[in-house]
Amino acid sequence: MARPKDKPKMIQRPRGTHDVLPPEQPIWEAVRKTIRELSRFYGFERIETPHFEMTDLFTTGVGEATDIVTKQMYSFKTRGGDQLTLRPEGTAPVARAFIEHGMMNWPQPIKVFYDGSFFRHENPQRGRYREFHQWGLEVLGDDGAVADAEVIHVFTLFLREWGFKDFIVEVNSIGCPACRAPFRAQLTQYYRSKVRGLCKDCKERFKENPLRLLDCTEEKCMQVKKGAPQLLDKLCEACRSHFKLLLEFLEELQIPYALNPHLVRGLDYYTRTVFEAYVDEPIKPSAEPISPEAVVPEEKSADEEAPAPVEAPKLEDKSPRRLAVFGGGRYDNLVELVGGKSTPACGGALGLERFIALVREAGRAPAEEKPNVFLVQLGELARKKSFRIMEELRAAGITMAESLGRDSIRSQLKVGDRVGALYALIIGQKEALDEMVILREMSSGIQETIPRSRLVDTLKRKLKT
Ligand code: HAM
Repeated sequence: MARPKDKPKMIQRPRGTHDVLPPEQPIWEAVRKTIRELSRFYGFERIETPHFEMTDLFTTGVGEATDIVTKQMYSFKTRGGDQLTLRPEGTAPVARAFIEHGMMNWPQPIKVFYDGSFFRHENPQRGRYREFHQWGLEVLGDDGAVADAEVIHVFTLFLREWGFKDFIVEVNSIGCPACRAPFRAQLTQYYRSKVRGLCKDCKERFKENPLRLLDCTEEKCMQVKKGAPQLLDKLCEACRSHFKLLLEFLEELQIPYALNPHLVRGLDYYTRTVFEAYVDEPIKPSAEPISPEAVVPEEKSADEEAPAPVEAPKLEDKSPRRLAVFGGGRYDNLVELVGGKSTPACGGALGLERFIALVREAGRAPAEEKPNVFLVQLGELARKKSFRIMEELRAAGITMAESLGRDSIRSQLKVGDRVGALYALIIGQKEALDEMVILREMSSGIQETIPRSRLVDTLKRKLKT
């Protein structure tokens, strides 16, 4: 049926975005509180960078051939002719800020955290948005495996703090340019005869960045991947001992981890450590063991308390349902790549939408805070006096709600009931004139009339009990 001419079209939010409505705010606030407290305790200071950057930062930093750069960036040209991009991730912007503000001359390492919106033009689906929020941790100026371990540790503490125990951190080392070059050649050799059977993207990856062939989740590519050589077996001595030390830290910290030799991640800046965490049922050991022996510390015996590394799940188990809740790694070359002095660094980011969905599914979302008092007013004089009373309550730290626009006492009390207030504070024309107030306990309906001057003290006493 044709729409009447003058009816304006309803405008909806853009695909892949979401509103955070008032009832959802308590969980976002509680999560952000944990983020702030944990980050600060572990020495990470807040950093805020712009929501858009010069496009070159991401093409250079994240990598020309990555999915993010080729398919997912929201880029635009300004009137002044600048080529800008809405930030798809936070690491390259932090590296840019590090250089731009001479942070290499500050006491090292620089440890920062951020919590904000990021933008990727992805196919919207459960847990995948076009505007999403990340909590990121970055450590710049530290090449030790202890920094990688600390980042993973803080994210896992966060999961534990919210009651999640069934998570697994998949880890891998993708080495440094020195050990990666011969591996790349081997990988190319392995894939050369198989490239025709790969997906369209992998055909491109074969030409542009063969390492990313290991990242594909297309069924036919996963079959080919099973026989592919593993970089973990071919790390140079320095990368091997860095990774070994990281695994020792993870054991010491009792972090459940799994070696996944095919984990490469979708961003080009990583060197050595890469990790990704999943909150799930515990992963059953694979029937097809992979070979972590090369890097697992031999001196730990199986009966020690630390959890033994769980083998990575069978590749077939990697259903699209499994979404990483956090991921990251080391990026020793990024700062130099985007114009600074060579600076070792590592970090990671946790997706807040995915995390909050998990909290909800687990039934751990905090309830909305209920106001102590609901203010009910009757008549113009009472309404006028309401603001002053509200200020007195605020100054005393007593939470309250009101419905000043309503006239009837019944409808106001109904709202008070709905918001779960403990007490109703009723002021009619008479009370307003006499400087009195009626205090009514919502659960019992028992009420008393008290002088206004004693209101705050009376409420404070009642609320304590
Ligand atoms: P990432 O793996 O692309 O890494 O994103 C980190 C986390 O953000 C993911 O594990 C996921 O929870 C969440 N996430 C990513 N894309 C989406 C999306 N479209 N919708 C909802 N959530 C999403 C990075 O961004 C790196 N900058 C992390 C890092 C920091 N590496 C080193 N330092």
